[in-house]
Amino acid sequence: MYTKILGTGSALPKQRVTNEDLAMLVDTSNEWITSRTGISERWISTGESASYLAAEAAAKALADADVEPSQIDLVISATVSPDNFTPTVSCEAQKALGLSRATCFDLWAGCTGFIFSLMTADALVKSGLFSHALVIGVEVLSKLVDWQDRSTCVLFGDGAGAVVLSSSSQPGLVTHVSGSDGTRGDVLKIAGIPLANPWMAQHVGESETGSQSVICMNGQEVFKFAVKTMESSIRRVVELSGSSLHDISYIIPHQANNRIIESVAGRMKIPREKFFTNLDHRGNTSSASIPMALDEMNRAGLLLPGMHLVLVGFGGGLTWGASMVRWTR
Ligand code: COA
Repeated sequence: MYTKILGTGSALPKQRVTNEDLAMLVDTSNEWITSRTGISERWISTGESASYLAAEAAAKALADADVEPSQIDLVISATVSPDNFTPTVSCEAQKALGLSRATCFDLWAGCTGFIFSLMTADALVKSGLFSHALVIGVEVLSKLVDWQDRSTCVLFGDGAGAVVLSSSSQPGLVTHVSGSDGTRGDVLKIAGIPLANPWMAQHVGESETGSQSVICMNGQEVFKFAVKTMESSIRRVVELSGSSLHDISYIIPHQANNRIIESVAGRMKIPREKFFTNLDHRGNTSSASIPMALDEMNRAGLLLPGMHLVLVGFGGGLTWGASMVRWTR
């Protein structure tokens, strides 16, 4: 038993924010942002919730897959910016779309969340426990960004992407690789809610200084980690699948920074055109970036039956992973 991708979808908030818009907020410029990152614009929520964007992307993926809501029996949403601790984004999407048969849960794994969710759904479908899964990547990172911090606020955007999976007699999701290094978590951190309860009166000073929930990052350390783990993840997933780099039609990387992608392409001697990027008009949308890119490629007609694709991600945790996909549609 195997798993294949039946359809894709994506959704964006309405508000477009250009580099020039950001230059009115902080001391930056279009020249600095495009040359250091490749990003020109991103889309920022002015009211769209993570659950709303997730449901929009999922509805489009269901339509593309020609699958009825009643056929979906599993929903996994990758996010670090859910609307609530509970109910999850997945349960909210279930409510919006009438996915009444589905078991729904969210998965947190930084920007690698979509790869880990795809791998988890693949394993659960292959096991025979589920037959049709929705895997969603969704973020409203704009609520976790410090809009006074020019080193981070120029990087991120909001959005959602989704895929519909089904069991299959032919391999679509060929194999996955993954890894984590919790000892380096401080390199990219979003603090949670500080502990506060009536029995902590004697420590009130400590809780008052508890850190805010905003993205804190050592950009250069993340950059080096990203280049290293993207290269090793691509090499490992290609080797594990029994194919060679020449067999790969496209690599769909986490859309963080053009210079990271160029550096990986250069080190691996892979033509830059094989790396699909849409970060110039999306920014870094964390868990949503890979499924949004996949949907853009699908709708542009770039994906042909039999093509081999590598999806590769990295992010907070630290975490990393890659999936080898044989496009079967
Ligand atoms: N506009 C103008 N100047 C800026 C700026 C901005 N938006 N952000 C930072 N700078 C300044 C810095 O203050 C610094 O100034 P200084 O030399 O006077 O101290 C200078 O630019 C260089 O900063 P530095 O951090 O060395 O730049 P960089 O070349 O490493 O680029 C990143 C910064 C964040 C773009 C880059 O490190 C990066 O992309 N890292 C990976 C981040 C990432 O992908 N995170 C998400 C992972 S999921």
